[in-house]
Amino acid sequence: MDKVRKTFDKWAENGRAELMELEHGKNVSKFLDSISFDSKFTFLDVGCGNGWVVRKIANNPNCKKAIGIDKSKKMIIQAKKKDGSKKEKYIHADIESWKHNGKFNFIFSMESLYYAYSIEKALKKIYRLLSPGGQFFCGTDFYTDNKATVRWADIMKIQMHLHSKKEWKEFFKNAGFEVRAKHIRDLKNRKKWKRDYGTLFIIGTKPK
Ligand SMILES: C[S@@+](CC[C@H](N)C(=O)[O-])C[C@H]1O[C@@H](n2cnc3c(N)ncnc32)[C@H](O)[C@@H]1O
Repeated sequence: MDKVRKTFDKWAENGRAELMELEHGKNVSKFLDSISFDSKFTFLDVGCGNGWVVRKIANNPNCKKAIGIDKSKKMIIQAKKKDGSKKEKYIHADIESWKHNGKFNFIFSMESLYYAYSIEKALKKIYRLLSPGGQFFCGTDFYTDNKATVRWADIMKIQMHLHSKKEWKEFFKNAGFEVRAKHIRDLKNRKKWKRDYGTLFIIGTKPK
């Protein structure tokens, strides 16, 4: 079985999905709260884990539909157990091979894209799934500039593509996106890297 899927199936069973929710929650919420979802929109979370971001977004009155996909079947089972509203939907699929006809206004992904076999292919797919003018928010704590996180790949023992902020921006440009980046820092966190570097969000906009 795919090692990434196997790892996150285990995490879904041993409570680490909820730990990720705790660990990522503050910076992700700070980032998402800075986005004005001011007209009706559809939303996709790639690598949704237990679905906590999908649930948060589905609470927004302008949200018409929020879908979470994850290649770990057990993460999807956890997400379905917790789902709160009819706007939410969880699907066991990987972004590369997921068959979907509709388009989204916003696509989000936190700490997931660097596990893809090919970031380039995953980004092309995400680009196709966006409506013109749509945006992709890609959050990562694992990037070369954030030196304290670089050793995570040795600990995880699964494929994790490590790139710098500059390289991430290049990937987005090559996929056709207009791109900018934003660091969300947690100045009171006991972890130094969270204070100094924080979560890097690459924001890709599909031109109209
Ligand atoms: C580190 S967890 C993050 C989960 C969630 N975004 C969060 O912040 O709590 C990464 C998740 O991405 C999923 N994942 C990894 N590669 C994927 C892919 N190519 N397509 C869909 N899901 C993927 C994993 O199964 C895992 O649940």
